[in-house]
Amino acid sequence: VKVTFVEPNGTERHVSNAEEGQSLMEVGKANGIDGILADCGGACSCATCHVFVDPQWWERVGPPDEVEFAMLDMVADVAQDMSRLSCQVKINAQLDGLRVTVAPASD
Ligand code: FES
Repeated sequence: VKVTFVEPNGTERHVSNAEEGQSLMEVGKANGIDGILADCGGACSCATCHVFVDPQWWERVGPPDEVEFAMLDMVADVAQDMSRLSCQVKINAQLDGLRVTVAPASD
């Protein structure tokens, strides 16, 4: 499955080794994508894996659940309508070609 990550500095990174069942965060980490820190290791409690989903992909990716939404709310200074925590997005064949922008760190 192919995924394009746009790093916070604007660099586009194309990866094609995303496996179904992996989280988007794991794909980002495995490929050294800048800005995907994943401090909590995918437990939906740090928001350092925050990405903005490309609007064209939003429907296929879907909205965050309540727990994730609450976490995103804590980074409300940078969160947008298309915000997701990448550790909560599971790769599947429907997401081939997915494009996301890594959110800048919030503090
Ligand atoms: Fe911590 Fe996603 S890795 S919230």
